[in-house]
Amino acid sequence: MAEAENKGNIRLIITDDGSHSLFVPALNETYHSFHGALQESRHVFIKMGLEYALNQKASPHVLEVGLGTGLNALLAAECAETYKISVHFTSIEAFPVDYSLAASLNYPKFIAHPDAEQWFEDIHRSDWHVDRPIHSLFTLKKLHTKLEDCQLPSSQFDVVFFDAFAPSKQAELWGMEILTRIVESMASQSVFVTYCAKGQLKRDLKALGLQVETLPGPPGKKEMVRALKF
Ligand SMILES: C[S@@+](CC[C@H](N)C(=O)[O-])C[C@H]1O[C@@H](n2cnc3c(N)ncnc32)[C@H](O)[C@@H]1O
Repeated sequence: MAEAENKGNIRLIITDDGSHSLFVPALNETYHSFHGALQESRHVFIKMGLEYALNQKASPHVLEVGLGTGLNALLAAECAETYKISVHFTSIEAFPVDYSLAASLNYPKFIAHPDAEQWFEDIHRSDWHVDRPIHSLFTLKKLHTKLEDCQLPSSQFDVVFFDAFAPSKQAELWGMEILTRIVESMASQSVFVTYCAKGQLKRDLKALGLQVETLPGPPGKKEMVRALKF
């Protein structure tokens, strides 16, 4: 994705719930909903994804497409602590955010836990391609690679946070070839969540054998998608 590689002038913005996000002028795209980054991530990925999976899995293994600002990773670390469950979180990122920019994001102040600042720093500073404990119940493995080039293990992940840029900006990551590989990497009784609710995505996930649900989206967005693999 040539344009994303050239993220020149990427800048910090404040979304409607007071949480930060990033704007990429080259794509005319933000990392999160401008209606509220934090409330979007909490709703789509944590509530509808990770918390939902806890009904089925005691120690879920999450795959995230697009570590980005680390917001989803931070909220997943918070969730592990809140529910006292062990979470392993693998996150793929082709074009990491510079640490100086990441360090200025205000996400830790929205997390009640006293160690949230440290978790967030460790999420960004941890080495790539190795398991790194962020706290005693949350292990992060960051993969610095393009999703297209990544060998995904088979039948591994209990939850997929599919958080690529929108299909209109990055169609190649939403096509059947990538979705097939993602679905193959999902364990039985697993769940795929994304903020996108496009008809083509729903048809493709159905064609891959998933049970697709259209759920209410976060504030400001009508719908989102959750898809279940049995
Ligand atoms: C919508 S943002 C992700 C937001 C992130 N989950 C967060 O909590 O901030 C999409 C991310 O995908 C990354 N990305 C773009 N192309 C990619 C590719 N081909 N493979 C992997 N990641 C890619 C971008 O650099 C960006 O960080």
